[in-house]
Amino acid sequence: MNLKYLLAIFLFLSSCQSQNTGLVSKPKNQSNAASEKLFNSLCVNCHKCEESLIGPTLAGAKQRWESRALLYEYIRNPQAVIAKNEYAHNLANQYKPYIMTAFPNLTDEQIEAVLSYCD
Ligand code: HEC
Repeated sequence: MNLKYLLAIFLFLSSCQSQNTGLVSKPKNQSNAASEKLFNSLCVNCHKCEESLIGPTLAGAKQRWESRALLYEYIRNPQAVIAKNEYAHNLANQYKPYIMTAFPNLTDEQIEAVLSYCD
C-alpha cells in the first residue's frame, strides 16, 4: 500500500463525515437524497431519528399523531395545533422551553419526505 492510496482512503473517509458532527443522525432505512437534504437543512439542529435532542425522536412520529392532516398542520404551524390538540399540547409542555419552528411553506409531499428520512 503506497502513500497515495492511503491518502485517497483518508480523503474519502473524511468527505463522508458531516460538517455538523455530533448532531447528525443516521437514517434507519434507505432514504432518498431529497428527504436527507430537507432533514439536514431544516430539522437536524433539533431532531435526531432515534433519540430526542431539543425535540422528540422523529422515528415513528407519524404513528403518534391521530391524523396525517393534523401532523402536516402542526409542522406548518405548531402553535396553532398546540393550542387545540391535547397530544401536541402535552408534547410542548414536555419539551419546554424549546419550541418547534413553524415551516409554513413545506408541502405535504415535503413533510412526508422529511419524515420518511427517519422511518
Ligand atoms: C428549533 C428546534 C426545532 C426545529 C428546527 C424543528 N423542530 Fe420539530 N420539534 C421541536 C420541539 C421542541 C418539539 C416538541 C414539541 C413542541 O415544542 O412543539 C418538536 C416536535 C416535532 C414533532 C412531533 C414529534 C412527536 O413525537 O410527535 C415532529 C413530527 C417534528 N417536530 C418534526 C420536525 C421536522 C420535520 C422538522 C424539520 C422540517 C423540525 N421538526 C424542526 C423542535 C424543533
